[in-house]
Amino acid sequence: MARPSTPRPPAQPDQRTGHDLLPVLPMTAEIKDGRLWIGGVDTVELAREAGTALYVMDETTIRHQLSEYVKWTRYHWKDVDVVYAGKAFLSLAMVRIVEEEDCCLLCASGGELAYAVRAGFPMERVQMHGNNKTPAELAECLDAGIGRVVVDNFEEMERLSALAAERGVTQKVLVRVTPGVEADTHDFIMTGAEDSKFGFGLNQGLAMEAVKRAVALPGLEFDGLHMHIGSQIFALHSYARAIEVMVAFMREIESETGHAVRMLDVGGGLGVAYGAPDEPSTVKDFGKVVVDGIKEECERHGIAVPRMAVEPGRSIVARAGVTLYTVGSVKEIPGIRTYVAVDGGMSDNIRTSLYDAHYEALIANKAEQPREMVGTIAGKHCESGDIVVRDAPLQCPEPGDVVCVAATGAYCQSMSSNYNKQVRPGVVFVRDGQWRWAVRRETYEDLLRTDEG
Ligand code: LLP
Repeated sequence: MARPSTPRPPAQPDQRTGHDLLPVLPMTAEIKDGRLWIGGVDTVELAREAGTALYVMDETTIRHQLSEYVKWTRYHWKDVDVVYAGKAFLSLAMVRIVEEEDCCLLCASGGELAYAVRAGFPMERVQMHGNNKTPAELAECLDAGIGRVVVDNFEEMERLSALAAERGVTQKVLVRVTPGVEADTHDFIMTGAEDSKFGFGLNQGLAMEAVKRAVALPGLEFDGLHMHIGSQIFALHSYARAIEVMVAFMREIESETGHAVRMLDVGGGLGVAYGAPDEPSTVKDFGKVVVDGIKEECERHGIAVPRMAVEPGRSIVARAGVTLYTVGSVKEIPGIRTYVAVDGGMSDNIRTSLYDAHYEALIANKAEQPREMVGTIAGKHCESGDIVVRDAPLQCPEPGDVVCVAATGAYCQSMSSNYNKQVRPGVVFVRDGQWRWAVRRETYEDLLRTDEG
């Protein structure tokens, strides 16, 4: 299986057209009249009407991915929660889709929770995460009446207990455990994850101590365990190994405390294809390895199969999203590189400079043409590292062309910034030939609103 870190060969013009890029574009993408269409909407026309830079999200792909998770996890076991990790991309429209697709929502801050509250999302389906939830955030969880808090440290458990007692309520909690299986994109390392700011390790008895406190503390109801081994994971055996460790710990808990572990949440992390060499596992295979894996391990240990949860983020939204930009200038440095400068950059996609991420790109108004050159798609910020795609095979670019960068639906808008006081692009959702603003483009007024002068 190709891995996400597979070294990329030096970029060459590859003669590929938009048709060849369909596997990394939204499911509804098609090439018509020489242009790229998504969700039945002509992206070139859309760029003209809505302006660029612009995030475009295909609702069909998002709903399909959520329903794939529901289908392929519940195929193996009746009680599985699909908990969408809102950190990958969150807006009110997105929250409503998550609700309609019968999924739960993972919030990792009070701000993310505020979106769930504003959208009227069913609070019992919300989980709160974070390694340092503030007292205010813990109180917000209790006041909203969310389903579960995933506790991460002893101080937080004490605080949550006191706040719950003050309110006369009981809060279900999952204890976050670091199973000592660290999935990187190559393999797993058995000890590495012990050095983690997240959760409680198993080796020094910290996780068992946390479970005992969760059982004993007033106002807390110990509901189960949580783990998360990493992100952009291609190797499913990392999950299988972590599940072995977690189920063995469940049995230990049951024999030592007499308390059943009612829920096991295995976190998110399934990888996606950003380009041609990537061949991630399917949701179907993930469901089998995780859900069957838990069932089999529970049978082996003679304990009841718990309710389960999975927490996909990237694999729900990455492929659903593209970013559209307009080319401002094409600067050829003979013998060195051609820079294709666009009207966005590291403020709307920090992943290239942060992780050396690579994306596929095409010119939406030349989608039928072969990618005959290699250009570096550069942003408009005051840093040489402000690159959107380094050495991208591309159709020959000219000022005014609409560049589409594929698979930017996850962790781009959610990690965007106002560097250089750049206004953040808007987000449009497309479906059945219609588009609508999910998040409007910021204005200078938005930038200035918080400035006290
Ligand atoms: N659950 C927990 C507890 C997490 O920490 C995360 C992601 C997820 C679920 C969702 O993982 P996913 O399915 O999206 O891999 N900014 C980085 C990714 C950071 C992931 C943080 N945690 C990036 O742009 O690649």
